[in-house]
Amino acid sequence: MKKLLYNANQIVTFTGNSAIKGESMNMPTIIKNGCVLIDGDKIQAVFTKDEINEYPTENVPRIDCMGKTITAGYVDSHTHFVFGGYREQEFIDRLSGATYMEIMNKGGGIINTVNATRQSSQKQLIRSGLKALEQYLSFGVTTIEGKSGYGLDIETELKQIDTMRQLEQLQPIQIARTYMGAHATPPEFRTTDEYVEYMIDTVLPIIKERTDVQFVDCFCEKNVFSVDQCIRLLLKAKQLGLDIKMHAEEIECLGGSGIASRMGATSVEHLLHIDDKNIVELSHGNTIAVLLPCTAFSLREQYAPARDLIDNGVAVALGTDFNPGSCYSNSIPLLIALATLQTNMTVAETLCALTINGACAIKRGDIIGTIEKGKQADLLIHDMPSIDFLAYNFCINHVQTVIIKGQIVHHAN
Ligand code: NIG
Ligand code: FE
Repeated sequence: MKKLLYNANQIVTFTGNSAIKGESMNMPTIIKNGCVLIDGDKIQAVFTKDEINEYPTENVPRIDCMGKTITAGYVDSHTHFVFGGYREQEFIDRLSGATYMEIMNKGGGIINTVNATRQSSQKQLIRSGLKALEQYLSFGVTTIEGKSGYGLDIETELKQIDTMRQLEQLQPIQIARTYMGAHATPPEFRTTDEYVEYMIDTVLPIIKERTDVQFVDCFCEKNVFSVDQCIRLLLKAKQLGLDIKMHAEEIECLGGSGIASRMGATSVEHLLHIDDKNIVELSHGNTIAVLLPCTAFSLREQYAPARDLIDNGVAVALGTDFNPGSCYSNSIPLLIALATLQTNMTVAETLCALTINGACAIKRGDIIGTIEKGKQADLLIHDMPSIDFLAYNFCINHVQTVIIKGQIVHHAN
């Protein structure tokens, strides 16, 4: 079944299957008066109104874009969207001056959500996951990454991962799955070292054998998991053929990001406190820096140095980090506002970070992330005449129509 999107004032896209680094992030292709021809779940052609006669479109159903803007679907490349319970009291305590780490070191934080997630039935997790995904869809997210790490024991980690698998069957957003057992040390272990050895010897082989998890992530931070513990875990993950990621330099700069990059990590994430040495290290490799400005906003921390990373030639992606602790918001409009107004990314760089670079941060750049012949037809029609309105008309959801695999899956009036 074919469809023709026509009369778009702008189609804004990047090209290719690879992450875009440095200054190229600011160089999208802008097609004026553009059309997109969809065939089934794929993009068949992208062209201008003047070229329409070169394509056989007479009997093809048409969608009039009425001078609006088309982009590729957004990819949120870092979330923890499957969890039980809430932590609103911790947020209120932070408003009165408590810090994220103080709360965690007193036994709260992630462990609170671990307890609630262990107690949640899979039905409850599916219900709350669906609600988050419905919101994500309205914001134009067509693919999302989701991390486990609120179970820590095998049974609950598998429950979280299987919840994501089931959610993918129940709604249209596609979900890349990440095992993040190295999120916190569970109370049943005496030491973090013992827990790391347990994950290496017992959990990772089970994850590899019984699930379709693609990535292994770890929280590399002072008093959480050391650089050395993360390296041991990620080496085992690599041996098993899993791709690796790291939460790094979120609260302090331990230098995990540079080491993860040398190990061939797909991405390193957060980077609020990354130093110049590690920025240079990243600029020498192909690891994507996934930045999460909504978390810095929520924790009232400094933002990651997006400008320095891009100006040094690093590929940057953006994610919401949606989770019940450090960032209980999955607002893409807020993410765009913070990226542009607070971290000085241009509108084009922000779009790049949310489309092709997000896709590459979950190794799907060959399938999604750009509007090109042969790519999956994941498209957004934004009710705005040009891409600049994404930042200029800040904190507003401009997404009107969401198309995933060639099907209209959301339409706001
Ligand atoms: O990315 N930093 C570690 N993990 C999450 C927070 C998880 C939580 O607080 O529940 C993050 O910010
Ligand atoms: Fe996170």
